[in-house]
Amino acid sequence: MTGTNLGKQQGVFITFEGIDGSGKSTQTRHLADHLRAQGHDVVLTREPGGSTGAEEIRALVLEGDPDRWSAETELLLFTAARRDHLERTINPALAAGKIVICDRFVDSTRMYQGLSRGNLRAEVDALHDLMIGREADLTILVDMDPATGLARAKGRQTTEERFEDFGQDLQTQMRSGFLALAKAHSDRFRVINGAQSQEAVAADIQAAVEDYLS
Ligand code: ADP
Ligand code: TYD
Repeated sequence: MTGTNLGKQQGVFITFEGIDGSGKSTQTRHLADHLRAQGHDVVLTREPGGSTGAEEIRALVLEGDPDRWSAETELLLFTAARRDHLERTINPALAAGKIVICDRFVDSTRMYQGLSRGNLRAEVDALHDLMIGREADLTILVDMDPATGLARAKGRQTTEERFEDFGQDLQTQMRSGFLALAKAHSDRFRVINGAQSQEAVAADIQAAVEDYLS
């Protein structure tokens, strides 16, 4: 059984992408509250994580020595976490007609594992086709300049510092990579300016989602 035949989709799958500190987690919560207030059944989830097994894998990939895993092993761990998340959380919710909002999905793997430690983009896409096979219906890219994003991310107290520790060069590479991905897949991507007040960002996202849903 592969990702493509795990269940017939009836709901809507919305993912959020962007560099660390761009405001994704904040904005996924705003959007979930907004859609729930309109009467939608919403599942708010995140990657890596979003299911019991995937949250255990999250600790393996985001905590401890950054050189703990080779680039290839790390890619397999992120993909394993996604497969569990898809089977146990995302696909059942979509089959039940819910709106699933996910803080990061495969576009993060395309960028981080695809670019950060050598060029593994072909392996990322091959594994995705083989084991996941699902893309978002709508992807909100919260665009943000790397210095501000990194300063915001560093302001949080967390032991999960894996990629933030790669510094501003990587964040700059990620930002242009995300923008290129959005251009290549303009059917599902909407680019939102993250360098505004939380309320203004939330309003832009609501407009994009309402436009899609209608
Ligand atoms: P991400 O999930 O993309 O890493 P977060 O939503 O966790 O980003 O936000 C990172 C930090 O920046 C948090 O402390 C959050 O409160 C703050 N923040 C989020 N959005 C804004 C905004 N529009 N303006 C200023 N600070 C923000
Ligand atoms: P997240 O908790 O969203 O971090 P942040 O709030 O700082 O944006 O994600 C944790 C880290 O995991 C983040 O640095 C990006 C990285 N990541 C990958 O490298 N590959 C992936 O497939 C995913 C989903 C996340």
